[in-house]
Amino acid sequence: MDALLRPRPTLSLVFISLFLFLSRSFSQEIHITNAERRIDLSSHIIKVFLTLKVENTGETAASDILLAFPPTQVQHIAFIEALATATTGKRKKKSYVRLDVKPTELPDAPNGIKYFTISLINPLKSGDTATLEVLYIFTHSLEPFPVEISQSESQLVYYRDSALILSPYRIKQQITFIKTPSTKVESFTRVEPSNRAGTELKYGPFEDQTPYSFSPITVHFENNNPFAVVEELVREVEISHWGSLQITEHYNLVHGGARHKGVFSRVDYQSRSFSGAYSFKQLLARLPPRVHSVYYRDEIGNISSSHLRTDSRKSELEIEPRYPLFGGWKATFVIGYVLPLQDFLFESSDGRRYLNFTFGCPLVETVVDKLTIKVVLPEGSKDPSAVVPFPVEQHLETKYSYLDIVGRTVVVLEKKNAVPVHNTPFQVYYTFNPIFMLAEPLMLASAFFLLFVACLAYLHVDLSIRK
Ligand SMILES: *[C@@H]1O[C@H](CO)[C@@H](O)[C@H](O)[C@H]1NC(C)=O
Ligand SMILES: *[C@@H]1O[C@H](CO)[C@@H](O)[C@H](O)[C@H]1NC(C)=O
Repeated sequence: MDALLRPRPTLSLVFISLFLFLSRSFSQEIHITNAERRIDLSSHIIKVFLTLKVENTGETAASDILLAFPPTQVQHIAFIEALATATTGKRKKKSYVRLDVKPTELPDAPNGIKYFTISLINPLKSGDTATLEVLYIFTHSLEPFPVEISQSESQLVYYRDSALILSPYRIKQQITFIKTPSTKVESFTRVEPSNRAGTELKYGPFEDQTPYSFSPITVHFENNNPFAVVEELVREVEISHWGSLQITEHYNLVHGGARHKGVFSRVDYQSRSFSGAYSFKQLLARLPPRVHSVYYRDEIGNISSSHLRTDSRKSELEIEPRYPLFGGWKATFVIGYVLPLQDFLFESSDGRRYLNFTFGCPLVETVVDKLTIKVVLPEGSKDPSAVVPFPVEQHLETKYSYLDIVGRTVVVLEKKNAVPVHNTPFQVYYTFNPIFMLAEPLMLASAFFLLFVACLAYLHVDLSIRK
């Protein structure tokens, strides 16, 4: 009995010391001397810029800094990035170093709070300070209220947050600025001190807040920006070693704003400039330069209302769905185009080939709930591997098209909650034996040859029944 009981106190001692160690290393030794937060609510993609000046008041060096988020916010985070800033040289030039940021589970997290750990490159020595610049992006965090509006109304939304920055550390001084798209702010939670001027709300400055201080606020404001949400986007990028890159993009688009109430009146929509202010009828796709053979169609057929503008640096495709989109309305369509292969296919130093293409969605200011990119490699390609600068799910598929014998390897990349910052280059490496380029012409040639032989045989064989 005694022997059975004895390990328990030791175990709980271990836990207590672990807890003490964690809370000491994470909260007590780091202080935030100054924090400034800027929340940009001008579109439906919310950007938060956070500048933190951290100080290590402990005795040992600290290599991690924690960011805390309420559980309701963390599920909508699409992107998070942290930079360490340093002023170097005589001219005090600012330099930035990108730091590693990872979601972290902590055993003693209060109220289901979720964390991200920023790993410092140079551990912060006792008494030292560092400045961090954090950018994080939320989606689906503006709640339309009223939830249903008519065509002539303007869209109002709620944004909820805390006037105080949620943090496991003591914050000596902090301030928050919230930028609204227009001066039309119906209401906002007032705390002492807070202030509104034009399109800016100010919360703070607040002095000396204890760890995990929280003060809920709600801002109710006008936002008529297009809430363009692509529920699903499948982009297929097909490499042909005969010189082209064929792109086909399947969109399931929805207006993510307040639901449309009543009957849609096209006359009203076209005659009154304010009518349907929160709807959208045009979408802009940014495509690479030198694009050609562009098409835009839906299940009915080609849609002629699209305009392509190209210059040496970029191409812009303006598309217009068959009807303007109001809250909750959907549109499905396909955009296809061809690009010159030499702009995107290169040879790496180890002799492999690689495609260098842009990830994300070409439509501007769009949230993609589920993005799939399929890179179809030429037949006979081997050892594919993808390099993407953020985590994505990957797997391989095989696709067969005309004249394929073994099929083409397809590298499939999947990402949930993609926003415009994800439109960065990614690479797909593979090896390719040029002999495979001869396969299709050889097959065609032999088919013609067989046909020719068959014709010859037919002409020379006398099939008539004559005696
Ligand atoms: C649609 O447009 C594409 C490109 O402009 C063209 O090749 C195709 O034939 C058109 N299809 C129909 C059904 O009009
Ligand atoms: C991919 O292309 C971008 C420009 O579009 C370029 O900045 C980048 O260096 C390229 N990456 C590789 C690995 O070639």
